[in-house]
Amino acid sequence: MTTLDPRPPAPSLLLPEAALPEDSLGLFDYDVAIVGLGYVGLPTALAYHAAGTRVLALDVSAARLRTIRSQNADLLPNDRERLRAALRDPGFALTGDVSRLSSAAAVVVCVPTPVDAHLVPDLHLIAGACRTVVEHAVPGQLLMLTSTTYVGCTKDLLVDPLIERGFVPGENIHVAFSAERIDPGNDAVAHDDVPRVVGGATDACEERAEELLLQYAASVHRVHGLGAAEMTKLLENTFRAVNIALANEFADICRALDIPVTDVIDAAATKPYGFMRFLPGPGVGGHCIPCDPHYLLWQLKARRVPAPMITQAMEEIAHRPRRVVDRARDILSDLGRGLGGTRVLVVGVTYKPDVADLRESPALEILDSLADAGATVGFVDPFVDAVRLPSGRMLHAERSAEAYGAGLVILHTPHRDLDLSWLGDDQLVLDATYRATGVSRLAVL
Ligand SMILES: NC(=O)c1ccc[n+]([C@@H]2O[C@H](COP(=O)([O-])OP(=O)(O)OC[C@H]3O[C@@H](n4cnc5c(N)ncnc54)[C@H](O)[C@@H]3O)[C@@H](O)[C@H]2O)c1
Repeated sequence: MTTLDPRPPAPSLLLPEAALPEDSLGLFDYDVAIVGLGYVGLPTALAYHAAGTRVLALDVSAARLRTIRSQNADLLPNDRERLRAALRDPGFALTGDVSRLSSAAAVVVCVPTPVDAHLVPDLHLIAGACRTVVEHAVPGQLLMLTSTTYVGCTKDLLVDPLIERGFVPGENIHVAFSAERIDPGNDAVAHDDVPRVVGGATDACEERAEELLLQYAASVHRVHGLGAAEMTKLLENTFRAVNIALANEFADICRALDIPVTDVIDAAATKPYGFMRFLPGPGVGGHCIPCDPHYLLWQLKARRVPAPMITQAMEEIAHRPRRVVDRARDILSDLGRGLGGTRVLVVGVTYKPDVADLRESPALEILDSLADAGATVGFVDPFVDAVRLPSGRMLHAERSAEAYGAGLVILHTPHRDLDLSWLGDDQLVLDATYRATGVSRLAVL
């Protein structure tokens, strides 16, 4: 698939390979440029800087640059420290000026790769970013894509357009793919300790990319070719999606058989091999699990390659927030009440604990569906002041969970420091986290 417009080649810009000086990297003002400073790009830029490299940190959003400059970005404490140090150092340049990309020896692209309302990959951001990077590419650079994407994307958006411009990958330019594996909000595993997988357009590209990654990453695993590296990330996140769907199904099975599912999962997890612990929940959010497997399914559809298990897992996952609403309705109905007129408080609305990220959060759909069913809805979340629901409704966080006077409380996101001490003994609670303890009138999802 080719998604870029063909551009006229510009060979005049190129140095012949023989003319590249031995120490051509020394000609650049920056060792690495990071394109896209979001949940992935900013910590990555800070990791490179902390490792002693000169970093050009680029984002096209002026608002995002302001947030970073004012140190209000959602970061782990360690990265907050790194940002403070970076902003004081001339070796860390924060910019929105894409023309400066030519001054970096390596350019790393980490822009969003979402899906649209029809679950079709929305490639306009990654295509736009790659177009800019190719336009400003100069001989001697390494261009590395790190956004999660379909197999063949690096070739379509970087390699082929570079060749059209007269570059020769592996000779006067290097191209690689290495997906990010960062887990925002998780400080149990340091970002720099997570091994990176990399594949290149040629062996020389792979070597150059490995060198760059080893500037900050503890280890690098090389695979042969761009496609294997792209597919590795799709396997990782599809594996998670399928296992979350299975955990959700086991939760429903265990409830029907009146067995506590978390006891079963904890017990199974004592096996030292062949089992990995996944917990059920109210659904999945963020820009990975609800999106990435659709990049694979989308390209398989074009080739008429069936993937029934992945398809079904993604359907189950997408259906999960509606299950929460159905369960809320059933619990109230058992008490002779309905959703209509009931005050429902959702506790925690971000898609995962200890981050402020609301993207694709199941809570948004849950709140909307509850409101559609006539409930009066509210939420509390230490990370969020207000949310816009898919229907367009705006909701502001309740000042006091206790004062809200909920007829039903739904536990959605188990933030580490979430205070549930206000829950009275008579409070009806639906635990969609499967992790609540010590609550008296608790129903599990
Ligand atoms: N968030 C995660 O947990 C996570 C983990 C691993 C991988 N990923 C993948 O990493 C990629 C980036 O995700 P994210 O969560 O960091 O996204 P994000 O939305 O947090 O940030 C992306 C940033 O890119 C900027 N941007 C968009 N187009 C740009 C352009 N042309 N030039 C420069 N900047 C541009 C945006 O302004 C934004 O600040 C995605 O492919 C995602 O799937 C995300």
